[in-house]
Amino acid sequence: MQKTTKLPGNAQWIGDRRRATKGEPPCPYLRNSLALPGPVRRATLQWTALGVADLFLNGRKVGEDFLMPGWSDFQHRAQVMSADVSAMLRPGDNTLGAILGDGWYTGTLLWKNERNHYGTHPQLWARLDIELRDGRKVSMTTGRGWQMRTGPVIAADIYHGEIHDARLDLGDWCVPGASKAGWRAADLFAKYHGELVPKVNEAVRVTETLKPRKITEPQPGKYVFDFGQNLAGVCRLKVRGRRGQKITLKFAEMLNADGTVYRENLRLARATDTYICRGGGTEEWTPRFTFHGFRYVEVTGLHRKPSAELLTALVLHTDMAATGKFRCSNPLLNRLDRNISWGLRGNFLDVPTDCPQRDERLGWTGDAQVFVGTSAFHYDVRDFFRKWLQDLRDGQRADGAYPDVAPDVLGKYGPQQFGNAAWSDAGVICPWEIYRHYGDKKILAENYDAMKRWIGYQQRTSKDLIRPRTAYGDWLAIDAVTAQNAPVPCDLVGTAYFAHTTDLMAKIAAILGKKDDSRKFRKLHTQIVEAFRDAYVTPDGRVVGHCQTAYLLALAFDLLPTKLRPKAFAHLVDLIESRGCHLTTGFVGTPLLLPVLTRFGRTDLAYKILLQEDYPSWLYTVRNGATTMWERWNSYTKEHGFGDVGMNSFNHYAYGAVGEWMYAVIGGIRPSAPGFKKILFAPEPGGGLTSAQCELDTPLGRAACRWQLRGKTLRGEVEVPPRTNAELRLPGQRTKQLLPGHHRFDVKWTVHS
Ligand code: BGC
Repeated sequence: MQKTTKLPGNAQWIGDRRRATKGEPPCPYLRNSLALPGPVRRATLQWTALGVADLFLNGRKVGEDFLMPGWSDFQHRAQVMSADVSAMLRPGDNTLGAILGDGWYTGTLLWKNERNHYGTHPQLWARLDIELRDGRKVSMTTGRGWQMRTGPVIAADIYHGEIHDARLDLGDWCVPGASKAGWRAADLFAKYHGELVPKVNEAVRVTETLKPRKITEPQPGKYVFDFGQNLAGVCRLKVRGRRGQKITLKFAEMLNADGTVYRENLRLARATDTYICRGGGTEEWTPRFTFHGFRYVEVTGLHRKPSAELLTALVLHTDMAATGKFRCSNPLLNRLDRNISWGLRGNFLDVPTDCPQRDERLGWTGDAQVFVGTSAFHYDVRDFFRKWLQDLRDGQRADGAYPDVAPDVLGKYGPQQFGNAAWSDAGVICPWEIYRHYGDKKILAENYDAMKRWIGYQQRTSKDLIRPRTAYGDWLAIDAVTAQNAPVPCDLVGTAYFAHTTDLMAKIAAILGKKDDSRKFRKLHTQIVEAFRDAYVTPDGRVVGHCQTAYLLALAFDLLPTKLRPKAFAHLVDLIESRGCHLTTGFVGTPLLLPVLTRFGRTDLAYKILLQEDYPSWLYTVRNGATTMWERWNSYTKEHGFGDVGMNSFNHYAYGAVGEWMYAVIGGIRPSAPGFKKILFAPEPGGGLTSAQCELDTPLGRAACRWQLRGKTLRGEVEVPPRTNAELRLPGQRTKQLLPGHHRFDVKWTVHS
């Protein structure tokens, strides 16, 4: 995939060679001018950066993207942005310029405050191709002749924030005839060793702005702005200040009991923006090259009580189309649905990150794997995952083990950061889920060789097809002694996933017409399942670990002989009931819990668990004011306050994986063929809900299902997209075939739940 479509190669990499490589040095400004002998018919700007950049033409920013070209595995490739700039040029002199930031290339990454992960100097590469109205062609590339200097952005770092000294503003620095004072020749850098590829996924943009809901002053001179929503983004500051007045914004997800901001969970991320005023009127500023995960902002350095106009929150994420809508008669579930969606928005920022606030923000594979299906019910995530799967393949080791995070920046910590069960399996599961939702075989083909190598790796490094005890098991499960040490053994998780991904590979190979491979994978799958049964299953249907997740894996991945399934399922139900119908699952078990209960006919129990409001449960977080998904079930509890500060995020989407069940079972929309070419509408009312409505923009058009329960009548309507086969299955009724269009239903309700 991402074949290097012929990109013009003669632009050079430019930047500031004298720029310090320690601390957070100022951002270089770069520019050059070009005379056009006539009016423009068409002009295209292609550019990329080792770092991040904002480009300008004749004083105006090109486009509205943020933090581009984004984060790819710069060891292997950089993504080229392309913009039609025809309307920004004019006959005569024109100036193209850029501000260059560290971004992920040289900026801080990981939890040891390390910089320069990919290189020591950010660099820009650009090419402007112009066709004049008379047919002549003119072009301009980065290289000799470009000028540079520093300006008001005196530091910009993704984790730590940005410092802008407006006294150093350069005025109109990117227009023909601008002052030359302080500018010198830009430095040229050696050819980039990686590939340049066109950007595959949508850019990061501001998708919403929020006004503060509340402003408090918990300590004199410290104003706390509450935006009412945990999000990822930045704040726009609008202020009238004195020259040299320093205004500081500190970002936080939560408040302490005394109303001050709680920032301990950010670990080493300073998450602080600073603006130094120019003075003499209203000033507006938005940082360029950072983002924060926050709901609250503490503002200091003001001389008087601020008004709400001081700050506006700008929500930033990859600008994908929103595709799903969910509503039901239970407001807490509606809030949960919003929290899941906000969890996605807070973390789909060019790569699917674990969290957007602390010194981490990495493309953790396990998190992405459990959430990919749900994400596709909320947004069009096809290109987003296509791009990220390239990062994942770029990080794959020669022996076939995928990295824990993609782009891989952890590999340097040692071999244990590769090949972990349920994390590495993202390499197979994510393409499969994207295929299931969008029906595009290309994603399977693009990933096929890599997936095959992952299966080979597992085969070679297993003992009699039993996987070793690698990390991370059922990460953060309730009964885990340490984060990693959950009751379900890590080798069981590994072997279950080995079977599961091999099963998917047998299907994928068949879909791609690779019959021999398919047969081999099918045979291997049968052998792994046998090994699993021998090692972990007793004749009375007990599974080693005897905890919810052990049974969930065995049942969800079809690892048990048919006759033992009811027994194993009964153990699962016992375990759930012994906890007063609460979950004990972590990252691995949670996504499987409600789907398995529904599949084996206990949707009533699924509702019970979903609707719990005490700890541990989804709605416990909602009841305690969550506006996003929390990393841990006990990220905050009434009894113990904030959870383990060493690792505690309030914006971690993994437990939002329940969203798929909400769309499929409450909302009733289930893909029954890839790309929703077939849909099963099968709402299962329960949990005391009296209505629900669910919509999804599938690749073939809008699918919708709305229902109402009134006494003994279940009434509703489904909308079948064009060119789709659909079935309607209502509880206690015979399944009906439906043609595209609207269909009403009105049936007797006989199910008790
Ligand atoms: C991340 C998780 C991740 C885990 C795996 C954590 O630091 O935040 O979401 O999956 O590490 O170990």
